[in-house]
Amino acid sequence: MARQTARTAATLKDFETEYMQRLQGIAASHDLLVNQNWTGAPLNELIRRQVEPFVETNRANLAISGPDIIISAKAAQTIGLALHELATNSMKYGALSTPKGKVSIDWEFHQTGGEPQRLKLKWEEHNGPPVTPPARKGFGHFVIDRMATQSLSAKVTIDFRPEGLVWIIDATAQALQSEPEFDAGDGASA
Ligand SMILES: Nc1ncnc2c1ncn2[C@@H]1O[C@H](COP(=O)(O)OP(=O)(O)O)[C@@H](O)[C@H]1O
Ligand SMILES: [Mg+2]
Repeated sequence: MARQTARTAATLKDFETEYMQRLQGIAASHDLLVNQNWTGAPLNELIRRQVEPFVETNRANLAISGPDIIISAKAAQTIGLALHELATNSMKYGALSTPKGKVSIDWEFHQTGGEPQRLKLKWEEHNGPPVTPPARKGFGHFVIDRMATQSLSAKVTIDFRPEGLVWIIDATAQALQSEPEFDAGDGASA
């Protein structure tokens, strides 16, 4: 994480700030997990802990809505990291950079036919500066796209709409809510 932060930070000061913020983000998710004996975390609380500090900086607006659910420790860590990167990016480039800006986060269960139930979580920015698709992708993009996709077997879509970024993660309820079985082939039996 330090290497990735160093690669994209413009100055030593930026490196220090971004790196410390990332560690604080991870600590915030861990605090929440410790409160629940590391069994999972309430999604709305995870969102608030990760995003509110950045909303307050510029007195921007945040709306959160969705059913009360507990997500697994693994999902909380992955989604916590993604929310942190979304929030810092929004503060640097998007809606959270201005007091008029707003971020809406909502989630819902959905199901088609006999398929397993899924949860879709959406981050949507409004009223920020006009957005154009970026020329470069950094560590944040890696976290919200590839890491989220692989760690939760999820579908991720990122849309740099002119009126604000939209990020959607869609995963099975199973992938988000239950801990993966311990893999006994993990070297333990060698
Ligand atoms: N919320 C956003 N609104 C507008 N542009 C964004 C937003 N988030 C990211 N971007 C664009 O995507 C690029 C890549 O983001 P990221 O991978 O986090 O790298 P970094 O934050 O180091 O620039 C940013 O440089 C920016 O141009
Ligand atoms: Mg970033």
